[in-house]
Amino acid sequence: MKAIISGKYGGPETLELRVVARPKLKPDEVLVRIHASSVNYGNIVLLRGKPFLARIAYGLKKPKFPIPGSDFAGAVQEVGENVTEFQIGDEVYGDLSSSGWGAFAEYAAVPVNAITHKPSNLSFAEAAAVPMAGITALQAIRNQAKIEAGQKVLIQGASGGVGTFAIQIAKSFGAEVTAVVSSRNVAIASELGADHVIDYKKEKVTSRDQLYDCIIGVNGSESISTYKQILTPNGIFVHIGGGSTSKMIETMFFGPLLSITGKKKFHTFMHQPKREDLVWMRELLEAGKVKPVIDKSYALSEVPDAIKYFEEGHSQGKVIISMPYEGD
Ligand SMILES: NC(=O)c1ccc[n+]([C@@H]2O[C@H](COP(=O)([O-])OP(=O)(O)OC[C@H]3O[C@@H](n4cnc5c(N)ncnc54)[C@H](OP(=O)(O)O)[C@@H]3O)[C@@H](O)[C@H]2O)c1
Repeated sequence: MKAIISGKYGGPETLELRVVARPKLKPDEVLVRIHASSVNYGNIVLLRGKPFLARIAYGLKKPKFPIPGSDFAGAVQEVGENVTEFQIGDEVYGDLSSSGWGAFAEYAAVPVNAITHKPSNLSFAEAAAVPMAGITALQAIRNQAKIEAGQKVLIQGASGGVGTFAIQIAKSFGAEVTAVVSSRNVAIASELGADHVIDYKKEKVTSRDQLYDCIIGVNGSESISTYKQILTPNGIFVHIGGGSTSKMIETMFFGPLLSITGKKKFHTFMHQPKREDLVWMRELLEAGKVKPVIDKSYALSEVPDAIKYFEEGHSQGKVIISMPYEGD
């Protein structure tokens, strides 16, 4: 099979397209013919081995997972001897970031607890856009912020992979959503359901006379002190990513302290791939409450270009890797 191989830590230029043996199937796995994958920030951490602490999980000197790629959608080609709930031909999707990676390849052997059936109304490319970005947004909104209907939610940096899901998921919980995006992304934020849009090129998040029950920091996150000003007395800030390293460290270290001493809460969190959340997302997608936003699509051989584009940090929605198969 064709696969992208990462032999050492470095930039996208270190990645090579090679022909390698298909992975061998374990009893609790299925072999999936991958039709599409997508790019996430986790791919960059695995590629570059940065931050350095990540190498504890990914390999100290070189990546111990030679084929990167987490999100995928595809069709089951073989089933392991213990597998009862999937059959050959079933269309599935999932996130391999906790299961050995390997989605930038034509085939992957995946444990059944990392996958579920693909949303029936989505193409493979659309389904591959969902797992990491969609579930990050879902877990931030549902588990961390515990958003309730009628609450006012500000989503900072709402136009990328995670942000476009965050707007729609917050709306699905009945929130009144304010999206913070650049001028070129104002229209897409409104189309996705944002009730109000702040163009950060023209206006500060603090310039409106408005308090928020919840602020989700996805990209371009401000300092805790800025958010403290615009949170309601019991409000919560959930930091997903973005912003400078100093702002991230500030939230990680001072957030817990401020949360203990005051009523306003400041959390950082890491998404956890969970099969039940793939099911949750499938229900939202099939009900038409959420739709993936795809910016650009690249072939498997173009993964280095896809990563270069993603690393520029301006994608509008998701960057897809397409591996078409007969019948797609
Ligand atoms: N905690 C977790 O478990 C977890 C999981 C996944 C991702 N993340 C983090 O979440 C963040 C977002 O990931 P992603 O995949 O959604 O990224 P992404 O798709 O690359 O986000 C790009 C988008 O962000 C916008 N943007 C850039 N700078 C901005 C700013 N200063 N203010 C507002 N918007 C800005 C860009 O539009 P403009 O340039 O036009 O503004 C673009 O539309 C990353 O930092 C990633 O590390 C965390």
